[in-house]
Amino acid sequence: MSNSQPVTPSSLSRREVLIALGSLGLLTALVNGVRGSLRFLTPPVSQTPPRIIVAGAPADFPSGELTALAAGPAFIGRDGAGLFALSAICTHLGCTLARSGEELACPCHGSRFATDGNNLAGPASHPLPYLALNLNDDGLVEVNLDQTVESTVRLKVKSL
Ligand code: FES
Repeated sequence: MSNSQPVTPSSLSRREVLIALGSLGLLTALVNGVRGSLRFLTPPVSQTPPRIIVAGAPADFPSGELTALAAGPAFIGRDGAGLFALSAICTHLGCTLARSGEELACPCHGSRFATDGNNLAGPASHPLPYLALNLNDDGLVEVNLDQTVESTVRLKVKSL
């Protein structure tokens, strides 16, 4: 006569059921931890297209001026080398800057920036980033709000 009997739910002791449930919970936590770690290690893939705004014709931006765009948070400037774009988002906590005389001022906590993007005062401790510019097929200036460039990069256009 064999001592082993088939295990049925009714034959499990309360202790065995608790051990089984505990093991299942532990296994679930382990699987979720591994999934979370893998998600952390893989770079996020952005499905959103870059935020590109049409700023206007190159002639809309005179030399020596810094023009605030109505279409998005950026300024367009022109110097002897061409056009450039500065972000109008404060590097402190992200408020939108406005022209204030010969400076750019943040209405939230008072940071001030020069028209070349350098931070002059206030809690913001970084200069404004320069943004990528492009001419579209219609010859209009486009600003890519999601792509920064070196401060020396210029879009070469016909001089006025
Ligand atoms: S968000 Fe501009 S100074 Fe704080």
